[in-house]
Amino acid sequence: MKEFARKQRDENRIVGLVPTMGALHQGHLSLIKRARLQCSSVVASIFVNPTQFSPSEDFAKYPRNLPADTEKLENAGVQCLFLPETKEIYPQNYSTYINVEGLSERFEGRLRPGHFRGVSTVVMKLLQIVQPQFAYFGRKDAQQAAIISRMTKDLNLDSEIVVCPIEREADGLAMSSRNAYLNREERGRALILHRSLELAERDFRGGERIAAKLISAARELLVSEPLVRVDYLDIVDPDSLDPVERISGKALIAIAAYVGTTRLIDNIILTS
Ligand code: PAJ
Repeated sequence: MKEFARKQRDENRIVGLVPTMGALHQGHLSLIKRARLQCSSVVASIFVNPTQFSPSEDFAKYPRNLPADTEKLENAGVQCLFLPETKEIYPQNYSTYINVEGLSERFEGRLRPGHFRGVSTVVMKLLQIVQPQFAYFGRKDAQQAAIISRMTKDLNLDSEIVVCPIEREADGLAMSSRNAYLNREERGRALILHRSLELAERDFRGGERIAAKLISAARELLVSEPLVRVDYLDIVDPDSLDPVERISGKALIAIAAYVGTTRLIDNIILTS
């Protein structure tokens, strides 16, 4: 992989990296599409990263479908699929980890201790191996994007992190491999996440700038839906993830909620 990437750079190609864990859907493919606009050599990686799964999460059960993924990537026009094995990424006696402090402990990190340490470590390794000019991440995982952007800045990496918009189903549901776990009824109820975000956005456009007011209206709508249980609904600075009281400039409104037993996340950026 290093040799291929070096050759691309030597030939003055612009190298872009799209890291994934496979089971590809349109959300992933939107990152590839974006990368192709900017880069003459797009590398997609598929690696189900064991260090970002906690012992209670089932690493073994994570969906894997390499033949379908390969076809999707070929059709999407990537130049290279990087498919490392676990023992290549984490050989025996592997002992170096990246921890982006503060940002990694809240929201998704509170529920999944060590998760972002695993994410930062593997992304750091992928960036070192490929050394792309650009690396693409989805806003769907807004906290992950903030952590990777911070790591890149803190460690003076040469890659530029590009955060891409959330790809949605026609009815507004954010695309996610977890959507497959929803039954018919839950799939309908799950729309309330995006609708609550839209309500907050409407209130914001109407001039409301007090975060607590936007949150309480959105929360009220969210909890009105049967089968839906809120984990968090917050308005934060998109870079620091610190809570915002009065919105000026950009803010991120982020939701995590259970629909039945499936935990979904979604968010929207509010821009003045
Ligand atoms: P994975 O869940 O496979 O997601 C790969 C990339 O696709 C992430 O950047 C994610 O934010 C993006 N993505 C997922 N759904 C999206 C949607 N609906 N719209 C836009 N982008 C979307 O995230 C990971 O893998 C891993 O943590 C990884 C970064 C690869 C490190 O192991």
